[in-house]
Amino acid sequence: MKKHIIHLHPVGKEIQVNDQTPLIDVLHEFGIEFPCGGKGTCGKCKVRLLQGEIEATDAHRMKIEQLGLSPEWRLACFSQCTGHITLEIEQFNHLILADESEFDFVPQKGFGVAVDLGTTTVVAQLIDLSSSKVLAVETMLNPQAKFGADLISRIHACLDGNTSEMTRVIRSAIGAMIELMVEKHKVALQKVVLVGNTTMQLIFSNCDVTSLAMYPFYSDNLGMKRFNPEELGWKFQVVEKVQFYPSIGSFVGSDILAGIAATGLHRKEDYTALIDLGTNGEIVIGNKNQIFCTSTAAGPAFEGANISMGMRAVTGAISSFNLDIENIVAHVIGNTSPKGICGSALIDAVAILRRLDKVGLFGEINSGDDHIKLIGKVILTQKDINEFQLAKAAIAAGMTILAYQLSISLSDIQQVYIAGGFGNYINLEHVSDLGMIELPEERICKMGNTALIGAKMFLFSDEKITNEILTKTRHINLEGDPNFQDIYVDRMLL
Ligand code: FES
Repeated sequence: MKKHIIHLHPVGKEIQVNDQTPLIDVLHEFGIEFPCGGKGTCGKCKVRLLQGEIEATDAHRMKIEQLGLSPEWRLACFSQCTGHITLEIEQFNHLILADESEFDFVPQKGFGVAVDLGTTTVVAQLIDLSSSKVLAVETMLNPQAKFGADLISRIHACLDGNTSEMTRVIRSAIGAMIELMVEKHKVALQKVVLVGNTTMQLIFSNCDVTSLAMYPFYSDNLGMKRFNPEELGWKFQVVEKVQFYPSIGSFVGSDILAGIAATGLHRKEDYTALIDLGTNGEIVIGNKNQIFCTSTAAGPAFEGANISMGMRAVTGAISSFNLDIENIVAHVIGNTSPKGICGSALIDAVAILRRLDKVGLFGEINSGDDHIKLIGKVILTQKDINEFQLAKAAIAAGMTILAYQLSISLSDIQQVYIAGGFGNYINLEHVSDLGMIELPEERICKMGNTALIGAKMFLFSDEKITNEILTKTRHINLEGDPNFQDIYVDRMLL
């Protein structure tokens, strides 16, 4: 298959992709947001074509025209790569918030780095604090992966005596990412802000995670962690301190704190929800008066774990299924042959099979077989469908219990933001149809990496926003709610 190179300007990144690869498949890894979820209405994903060509379809041209853009612009969410191209990423010139607005910031002197430390991937952006421009971006897979793919195996690796080594590898890897950006741009850093889930924060900080491994899974070491570059083994200077932002609860970290800041949920009049469908399935519901949050065991299935042909949203994963009359059509990330399905495609598959009445209300395969052929060699087994039901029930039950705690009904929630890596591919109609989020599709929107947006906001603010959010937010343990089991079982129905 033909390969092409995409140059990202001004961050100086080069990416090799297969012919016809949609830009959305590669750009979101660099922290680029698709605020309207790729509908072509917000224009925030616009890129300027500096070299090469991107053929625009009629629908794409119409969107460009409607948004009043000149001919050299393209919408990344409508574009595919069919040759070598150089793109100027407009979004890197402004900080775009999760609600599609631009961040109103007070310019500061110097440069800062925002880091989203995920269990699977790490993204770091170098920001000019006088303009909020992104000057450079680095991404990598979390090198702790050799100690286990998910949070639970990382925690167990710590219990086996590997904490110091896991701390060392992640500090050194993030230090190397930052050093690359700083050296290339010859800048002195004012500050570095890190956000991540509670386990990532504790391991980065070389703190004990034992309490997260056993009942009641509670850590009292959730606060802000401050470092000097020298103690992290970093060779560059940081004028102010390096800060790892505080967690909200034992399994609701500063990535969610940053997400709340990025969506402005803590200042909204209307009840709003933020759901991160990553490893942990964190759910937040609240408004300017009070916020409740929790985490659920929803993550593994949506990350492809425990699914027979499941995989993460990387090249080769089927990211979506659609129904074209009676035929199931698949989209494969990176325009290559399918190797398996990721979480968003799992949701699509179950929704479509339910619609075609191949799967019943209880998740049973109506033919009595133990699997259904989807496309090529890709199948969905009875066990996969049951895993999906557990995951979707965890989200739906979590939302119901948080709403109950807030003394509101689910219909009082005016807006649901979906954060997390594979959020870009989620079909909101299917999410709503299956009762995973029991609200109409129009109230749900995809938000991409709200953790990174929030981390960038933290570079421009003192700790006031953080304290405001923490004061308003209460962490709930779902299993501790006497109604959880009944609600959970009920929400397994499709
Ligand atoms: S136009 Fe909104 S994401 Fe592309």
